[in-house]
Amino acid sequence: MVLELIGAGFTYRGSTRPALTSIDLRLEPGQMHAILGPVGAGASTLVRLITGLLGERGTSVGQVRLEGTAVMLGDDPEAQLSGMTSLVGDEVQLSGRLHGDEATQVDKRARETLDSLGIGDLWGRRLETLSGGQRQLVALSGLLSQRPSLLALDQPSLSLDPDARRRLGHVLQDYCTSGGTVLITAHQLDEVAAACRDFSVLASGRLHARQRRLTVRDCDHEGIWDTREQDRVEQAEVSAPTAVALSVRDLTVSRAGAAVLDHVDLDVATGEIVTIMGPNGAGKSTLLRSLAGLLERGADITGAITVDDDGRAVSLGDTPAHQRAAHLGWVGQDPGSQLSAATVREELTRSAPLPTHRRRNRTAIRAQRQEAVASAMAQAQLEAVSETHPYDLSIDLRKDLVMAAALIVGSRILLLDEPTLGRDRQAIGRLNKFIQDFVRRGGSVLATTHDRRWAAQTADRILSVDRGRLYEDRQTGGTPWCE
Ligand SMILES: Nc1ncnc2c1ncn2[C@@H]1O[C@H](COP(=O)(O)OP(=O)(O)OP(=O)(O)O)[C@@H](O)[C@H]1O
Ligand SMILES: [Mg+2]
Repeated sequence: MVLELIGAGFTYRGSTRPALTSIDLRLEPGQMHAILGPVGAGASTLVRLITGLLGERGTSVGQVRLEGTAVMLGDDPEAQLSGMTSLVGDEVQLSGRLHGDEATQVDKRARETLDSLGIGDLWGRRLETLSGGQRQLVALSGLLSQRPSLLALDQPSLSLDPDARRRLGHVLQDYCTSGGTVLITAHQLDEVAAACRDFSVLASGRLHARQRRLTVRDCDHEGIWDTREQDRVEQAEVSAPTAVALSVRDLTVSRAGAAVLDHVDLDVATGEIVTIMGPNGAGKSTLLRSLAGLLERGADITGAITVDDDGRAVSLGDTPAHQRAAHLGWVGQDPGSQLSAATVREELTRSAPLPTHRRRNRTAIRAQRQEAVASAMAQAQLEAVSETHPYDLSIDLRKDLVMAAALIVGSRILLLDEPTLGRDRQAIGRLNKFIQDFVRRGGSVLATTHDRRWAAQTADRILSVDRGRLYEDRQTGGTPWCE
C-alpha cells in the first residue's frame, strides 16, 4: 500500500459545509488512478490533503496514511515553477540538489526525464521564455525526476497539446510499471486521464469508484468535459460576404534571429469565430500577443495588422497596446497576470474607461460605470462571485473575469488564448454562451486551443500553426486519440 484514506473528510475554516466527506481510497504500488469531477467537487482539496498541504486551513477527520514520499503538481499553471532558478536544466535538478544527491546522478535523471517528455532541447532555455505547455512539461519533469512513491497531479494536462498529453500518459504508465504510483485529478477526460487503469468520480466532495471506463454519457452526467467526442458541428453557411474585422498580412516575428512566426496571413470576418490549434511552442500565443502589441522587447516584428472600425480600416502599425485594446481584447493564457484588484467587481470597475472630463457630472459617470460592470458581469455569469478575490477563483472563472473586462473596454475582436483550459462541462457551456452572445452583437473571436472537440463544435473555421506557419483547416477532426 502507498496511500490509504479511510473515512477522510475536510472542512475549510469559516465554512459550514465539508469540502470532502467520507473518502475511502487505497492505492497500491504500480497503480495509476484518475479522479474526475466537475470544478468545485473538491479535487484540489483532496490532493492537498493527501500531500499534507492543508495545514491549519481547516479541520480534517478520518485517516490519511501515506507510505513513502509524495509530491504534488498544483492546478495553477502560473505557480508551478519554484521561482528559485532561471534555467530549465537547473529547475529540473533543483530538488535533487537540495536533497544533496550525487551531482552526476541528478544531471542524468533530469536529462532523461526531459527527453522522455520530448523537451530535451529546452535544457539551456530561460524559464521566462517558455510557452505555456513547455512550462507545464518542465514542472512535471521536476516532479518526475524526484522519483517519489506517489505522484499526485492536479490537472496535469493544462496547456498540453494532444501529442504531449499522449506522451505524458505513456511516461506515467512507465513510472507505474517501475513501481511508482500516480494519482491524477481532472475536470476533463483526455489522453492523460485515459492512460489510467482505474477511475473514480468526485461529486460534491464524495468519491465513487467506477468499475468500468467512463463513457461520453457518463461524463455528461457527471459534469466532466469529455474531449473525445469529435463530431464536427456544421456551422450555418454565411449568407453574404461580411466585412473583414481583422486582417493580418505577412506577419513575421523573430526571436534571436529565428522566425517564430513566418509570413502569416489571416483574415477574421465580423461575427466569425476562428480557432487556432497546434503543438506546444508552435507560436499561437506569440501570434495573439503580436496582434495585441504585447510582445516582449527584443522580438522583431514585421508585417501589417489592420482592424475595421465602423467601416474604416485602421492600421495598427506602431499603435501601443493600450490603444489597441479599444479594438482587440486580449485574454492571455495566464489570466492571473491580468488581474490586480481585491474583488471581481473592483477588477471590472477598474477596466471601465474614465472620460477625460470626469470632474464634471461625477454621479452620472459613476452610474454609467456601475451599469457597464453589472452588464459585463451578467454576460460572463460572474454575479455569484462578485465579491470574491480573483485569486480565489478557479482558472476558468479567472479567464471569464478577464473576458468580462474586455467587454467593458468595448473591444470588437476578442483574442482568447486557451479559453478552454481547466473547464468542466458547465464551464465550457458558459464560455460558449459568452462567445455566442459576443458574436451575435457583431464581435469576432480568434481563439487558440488544444481542445479538438471544442474547436470542432464551436469554430466557423479551424486553423493550425506549426513551427510558425499558419495552415487552413489542417487539424479539423484530427486523429482519434483513444485506441
Ligand atoms: N519571451 C520569449 N523569449 C524567447 N522565446 C520565447 C519567448 N516567449 C516564447 N518563446 C518561444 O517562442 C516559441 C513560441 O511560443 P508560444 O508561446 O507562442 O507557443 P504556443 O504555440 O503558444 O505554445 P503553447 O501551446 O505551449 O502555449 C516557443 O519556442 C517559445 O519557447
Ligand atoms: Mg500558448
